[in-house]
Amino acid sequence: MISQYQESLLLPARTFQSGPMNTTYEDVLEHIDSGIMLFDEEGILTFMNKQMYSILELNRHSVLGCTMVHLLSNIQLSRFKKKQLLRGYHEMIKLGNPGYEFVDEYGRYWKVSLCSGEQMKGGALFTFKEISDYKLIEQTAYQNDSLAMLGKLSASIAHEIRNPLTAIRGFIQLLHPHLHQLGKEEYAKIILAEIDRANDIIHEFLTSSKPSVPQVAMIPVAALLKEVVLLTESEALMKGCEISLHPLHGDMIISGDIKQMKQVVLNMIRNAMEAITEKVDDSVGKIEVGARREGAEVRIFISDNGKGMDICTLDRLFNPFFTTKENGTGLGLSVSEKIIKNHGGYISVSSRVNEGTRFVISLPLIQ
Ligand SMILES: Nc1ncnc2c1ncn2[C@@H]1O[C@H](COP(=O)(O)OP(=O)(O)OP(=O)(O)O)[C@@H](O)[C@H]1O
Ligand SMILES: [Mg+2]
Repeated sequence: MISQYQESLLLPARTFQSGPMNTTYEDVLEHIDSGIMLFDEEGILTFMNKQMYSILELNRHSVLGCTMVHLLSNIQLSRFKKKQLLRGYHEMIKLGNPGYEFVDEYGRYWKVSLCSGEQMKGGALFTFKEISDYKLIEQTAYQNDSLAMLGKLSASIAHEIRNPLTAIRGFIQLLHPHLHQLGKEEYAKIILAEIDRANDIIHEFLTSSKPSVPQVAMIPVAALLKEVVLLTESEALMKGCEISLHPLHGDMIISGDIKQMKQVVLNMIRNAMEAITEKVDDSVGKIEVGARREGAEVRIFISDNGKGMDICTLDRLFNPFFTTKENGTGLGLSVSEKIIKNHGGYISVSSRVNEGTRFVISLPLIQ
């Protein structure tokens, strides 16, 4: 059922004449750090403060006298914000939720509250309070929490599985002479090899979820990239992608753990291949890998023309366990980010939906 107020929000625009508002209050509302939007009992927008115009990136006074529908069809309003406002409208007005989180295309967050009904004399007051800093702290806390939890979980799994494996290994060695007598020595060999393989898998899991202390060595960037591209070339070919390594100029040497560095670049190339296979058009998948010097740093880039990412994915892609893939663990990038931070560097990313993605790893160069 649509209420009378919901209906009135859908009415066409009408000429609006500003009411007799106390100028002092208007000044306060105008300069407050939250965005404010006031609709009257007929669903007409009667007031919007400076901050609100800036949040929505609208020209001053361009929307007064509009209904919500007209506000949503305003050509100055970006598509992204329209979607967000529509979702907020649905959640708060239709479903009656008291709050909503509004996020814009630049990744800034606002908590939207609605005050309506009797106390607003049938009108509706929307307040937008910025919570981007709080969100950042929340995300970092969540990330650290998940990593700590994963560390504990994997350590306890390793402990629980490694212990019985060691016992089995010992008993098989004791049985070895008897199996030899029976002419079944081969069995012992197979069991031992399989136990060692299981141990290796546990070790791999532990090191991939919690990067170990780097084994520092000098790494020529050109050799590192060449090797990783060689390693992935056949896989790329099978997935119908072309992978190319840009020619590198000059000697660029970084200091770090070569295994961990390879793991990072491999993670990104794998993600690029997966983004290409998930794209739903016939264009040829292309992955480009390269590096260039930028002052005292090297910028290693991995770019693809795959499916790209929307703002929500971009916001969360470094969070542990965040994945959009059916079989993904969501650990690839969170571990990569940790490795690069341990090496004194940082990762940046730019992406467009259906066009592609570019990851850039910046690391300090050895002078
Ligand atoms: N090149 C890319 N193009 C498009 N989306 C990407 C790209 N790289 C990462 N992503 C997005 O970021 C998410 C997180 O990536 P991450 O590597 O951490 O985990 P995953 O690839 O999902 O799983 P795993 O790496 O454990 O197999 C992916 O699920 C995907 O949505
Ligand atoms: Mg991945």
